Amino acid sequence: MNTPEHNNSDSHSASITRRRFIAGTSASVLGFTVLKPGLLRGAEANSRINIGLIGCGNRGKWVADLFQKHGGYNFVAVADYFQDHADEAGETLKVPAANRYTGLSAYHRLLEQKLDAVVIESPPYFHPEQAAAAIDAGKHVYLAKPIAVDVPGCETIARSGEKATANKLCFLVDFQTRANKLYQQAVKAVHDGELGKIVSAEANYQCGDTWGHMDQLLRKDPKNPEVRLRAWGVDRALSGDVITEQNIHALDVACWMLDAAPIRAYGTGDRARDYLGNCWDHFAVIFWYPNDVVLSFNSHQSGYGYDDIMCRLYGLKGTADTHYFGNVMVKATDFHLDGNVGALYGDGVITNIATFYNSVTQGECSNPTVPASVRSNLTTILGRTAAYKQGVVTWEEMMHKKEKLTPDLKGLKA
Ligand SMILES: NC(=O)c1ccc[n+]([C@@H]2O[C@H](COP(=O)([O-])OP(=O)(O)OC[C@H]3O[C@@H](n4cnc5c(N)ncnc54)[C@H](O)[C@@H]3O)[C@@H](O)[C@H]2O)c1
Repeated sequence: MNTPEHNNSDSHSASITRRRFIAGTSASVLGFTVLKPGLLRGAEANSRINIGLIGCGNRGKWVADLFQKHGGYNFVAVADYFQDHADEAGETLKVPAANRYTGLSAYHRLLEQKLDAVVIESPPYFHPEQAAAAIDAGKHVYLAKPIAVDVPGCETIARSGEKATANKLCFLVDFQTRANKLYQQAVKAVHDGELGKIVSAEANYQCGDTWGHMDQLLRKDPKNPEVRLRAWGVDRALSGDVITEQNIHALDVACWMLDAAPIRAYGTGDRARDYLGNCWDHFAVIFWYPNDVVLSFNSHQSGYGYDDIMCRLYGLKGTADTHYFGNVMVKATDFHLDGNVGALYGDGVITNIATFYNSVTQGECSNPTVPASVRSNLTTILGRTAAYKQGVVTWEEMMHKKEKLTPDLKGLKA
């Protein structure tokens, strides 16, 4: 199965060769000639960025390998709730045992170390508190999507992004689509008016079973708090549910193209598979955007046979059509674009890692991915809230209510 959450196989990472990494990285970066003294906190000019990994699971290990292949980073510490995960990543990244931290507060001890930046790849619920602590500690942040599971979490990230910019720190949210030239060209064409007046839009995230392994794990010992943490993908409060945790890839592109947040949404959905936990596996939401633009969104995460992450915009002069695993097209009366995104899952991350390096070393701290990610993350939360209600919810109501998702962390070690 092909999903951006389940593609981090060894074969994938093995296929990301040094040559392809170099293609996504500027020569000056590889030559370490661009560093300006003073921009790297705690690091000497002309040296590598000292970095720590928070969350040493599948994605964390895979992304850390790409950071290493970049050549401009040096892992000095790792943090994970579980010792086995911290040790596995620590061995691979050659982080001494003394610098491997565990427990819910592991990230605090990691942040006390001499490092310039952190990569956060923990379950989504923890992202706001970990990113905020990192920015407060003066570290640059590279963060996995989704940025948060609820409105207060999104607001925390928004504040951390502003604080980062004010304090000359870089904060990058890792959406692969945003790093891709074809997506960028299509979005620019839309913003330049090539489609004419936008009338409507569609976004879809269709895939098969994603968290079956977590369901199986949870069934063995459902009351054990550590097992519940390992199985975070089937827990609403830890993951944000499928629409936020996974479908955000499609809704982020929609918000980017429409360059707006929705005004209100009507939603529905349910659970078809018999997983433990409380997540749904299909959603259908109608979002109303400014200027009477209607976006219909549909997703499923079950069954077999059809995978796609797409967003399509219909305008009076043309159509834009984007597919994470396929082509990005714009077919308009005066504009044409059609190209295959290739191995976006890996290439997008490689580009983001190179961008993060350039931003840190050149002091480019405008951090444009943060507000964009806050907006699309809130859009997923609006859709989720409407779907749970099986009714209409406005953006204003959602922002006013500030509903908080609180996982049961009782019994976990600090
Ligand atoms: N295409 C993409 O952008 C993409 C793909 C896959 C995953 N992701 C994101 O990456 C993140 C991690 O996903 P994953 O697939 O690696 O999950 P995972 O379960 O494999 O890894 C999560 C790790 O975090 C650890 N952890 C749990 N609580 C923690 C805490 N409080 N502090 C530190 N570590 C903690 C877990 O023990 C585990 O090692 C998620 O946000 C997910 O949405 C993004």
